[in-house]
Amino acid sequence: MRPPILVTGGSRGIGHATAASLAADGRHVIRWSRSVRATEGEGKSTDTHIIDQTVDVSDAASVTRAVAELAERCGALSGIVVNAGNGTWAGLAETSNEVWARTIGVNLTGAFLTIRSCLPLLMRGRPARVVALASDSAFHPFAGRAAYCASKAGLVAMMECLRQEYRASEINVTVVAPARVDTYFGGKRPGDRPQGLSAAAVGRSVANVFKQPDEVEVREIRLASVLDRYGPGDRQEAR
Ligand SMILES: NC(=O)c1ccc[n+]([C@@H]2O[C@H](COP(=O)([O-])OP(=O)(O)OC[C@H]3O[C@@H](n4cnc5c(N)ncnc54)[C@H](OP(=O)(O)O)[C@@H]3O)[C@@H](O)[C@H]2O)c1
Repeated sequence: MRPPILVTGGSRGIGHATAASLAADGRHVIRWSRSVRATEGEGKSTDTHIIDQTVDVSDAASVTRAVAELAERCGALSGIVVNAGNGTWAGLAETSNEVWARTIGVNLTGAFLTIRSCLPLLMRGRPARVVALASDSAFHPFAGRAAYCASKAGLVAMMECLRQEYRASEINVTVVAPARVDTYFGGKRPGDRPQGLSAAAVGRSVANVFKQPDEVEVREIRLASVLDRYGPGDRQEAR
């Protein structure tokens, strides 16, 4: 059995669906989130392939503690899905210090803290993969969400640096950029955005990356629902 795969933001939405797909593929999974809660069939796992840890990815001490526990428990990782994220839509002038700090703190600093802390475990679990959930907003910034777009563009840049630094070390890097997904994101609930992608579809696409031959680096995946009328080049609806 390969070492486990860490999925951050695994309590609901895309992270939860990704963990479920990976477990269905027979992979051991570690899920991180601040709250391990039960929401409509989601939440704490009874699946023996899945272990939950309570972690705030924006808090360096919390990440350090969790990785120390992981090192003790598993010794190595064969992948990370850098997924934990949040977003609050506001025009640049209306973006408060608090919203800016939270958005960058989770989406970008949280990704940095997670990856940096886990690299020794990934090196022990090689060949390994780091898959990051960016967004179409990283490539096509939308007015009214400067903090979110900046956090995701920064994430894409950081992932490219990681790729170049670890190419020779058998750590493959993938950026996944979905358009709208029907999750709890931004205070919504599944069903609120029925034309968007389902969390299950995105989770399956992410899990499929881990089924590729080790020498295949899937560099970028862009996903959108054909039912959706909101996205780059077709901005007709409010998101
Ligand atoms: N939904 C979309 O339309 C969409 C489109 C493109 C990209 N994305 C990206 O996909 C990723 C997942 O989003 P989603 O749609 O699945 O959202 P979601 O349903 O709101 O889930 C977000 C997950 O992140 C976790 N999380 C948030 N802050 C955290 C923190 N400080 N530390 C640890 N975990 C934290 C949440 O758990 P806790 O609250 O329990 O901590 C939850 O498990 C995000 O990075 C998002 O930017 C989403």
